Amino acid sequence: MNKQTPAANIFELRDVTKSFGNVVAIEGVTLEVSRHETIGLVGDNGAGKSTLLKVMNGFYAPDRGEIKFQGKSLRFRSPREARSVGIETVYQDLALIPELSLWRNFFLGREIKTGRLPFQVLRANQMREITMVNLREMGLTRLRSPDEPVNILSGGERQAVAISRARYFGGSVLLLDEPTSALSVKETEKVSEAVQAARSSGLGVVVIEHNIANVHRICDRIVVMEHGRVFKSVRREDVSVSEVADMVAGRHVN
Ligand SMILES: Nc1ncnc2c1ncn2[C@@H]1O[C@H](COP(=O)(O)OP(=O)(O)O)[C@@H](O)[C@H]1O
Ligand SMILES: [Mg+2]
Repeated sequence: MNKQTPAANIFELRDVTKSFGNVVAIEGVTLEVSRHETIGLVGDNGAGKSTLLKVMNGFYAPDRGEIKFQGKSLRFRSPREARSVGIETVYQDLALIPELSLWRNFFLGREIKTGRLPFQVLRANQMREITMVNLREMGLTRLRSPDEPVNILSGGERQAVAISRARYFGGSVLLLDEPTSALSVKETEKVSEAVQAARSSGLGVVVIEHNIANVHRICDRIVVMEHGRVFKSVRREDVSVSEVADMVAGRHVN
C-alpha cells in the first residue's frame, strides 16, 4: 500500500502556532517527518504534544504557519481529509468494536465489495485473509482465526490491530498519542513491535510517549517539547536515556 515518492521528507510543519483563547498551546513549531523514521514526542504535561498531533491530523487548524505534505502546502479541514491523503491516527479509544470479529474491525468502513449498488456483496474471504496476513506481520502470531472477536485481545494486541489497520490503509504517516499509557511492560513491547513494523514498511511515525526508555529504544529522533515549543530535537544515537530524561525535566545538558 505504500506509494513510493522520491523525497524522504514527506510531512512538514513550519512555524506552526495554535492557541486556545489566551493559552498558547503550541508556538512556532517546525517539524519534519521522513519515511522510515520514528519520531518520539516527549515533554511534560501541557507541553503541547497532543495539540501538535491534532494539528498534524487535521483536528485543529493552525492559527499560523504552514503544513506541507509531500512538498505541497495543505490545509486540512478535518481528520477525514488528512486521512484521505494517508495520515492515519491511532486514537486512544482505538475506534475498535470489541464484539465484532477481527476482520470486521480491520475493514470497518472500508470493506472490499463486489458488484454495484444495491447488489453489493462483501468479499469476506479476501478480507479474512488480508486481516490475518497483516496481523501476523505485526507479531500477533497466536491468533487462530480472523473470526475471533476483538474482545479476546489484550490491550497491547488491540493497539497492534489499530496500527496494522492504519499501516494497511494509510501508507504515509502514522500518528499515535500515548499508545502504551495503560499497558504492562509485556504489552508495551507488542506495541513497540507494531510501531517498528510500520516504520520498516516505509511510514513516517510520530509517537507521543511518556516512557523515556521506550522512546529511546524505538525512536530514530526524539523531539522534546516545553511550553508549546520544540526545546530540543536529537538523534537517538547522540543521547543517552538519562540525557533525554534530563531534557524532559528541563535540566539542561550540553
Ligand atoms: N481544547 C483545548 N481547550 C483549551 N485549552 C487546551 C485545549 N487543548 C489543550 N489545551 C491547553 O494547551 C496546552 C497544551 O496541551 P496539550 O497539547 O494537551 O499538552 P500535552 O499533550 O503535552 O500534555 C495546555 O495548557 C492545555 O491546557
Ligand atoms: Mg497529551
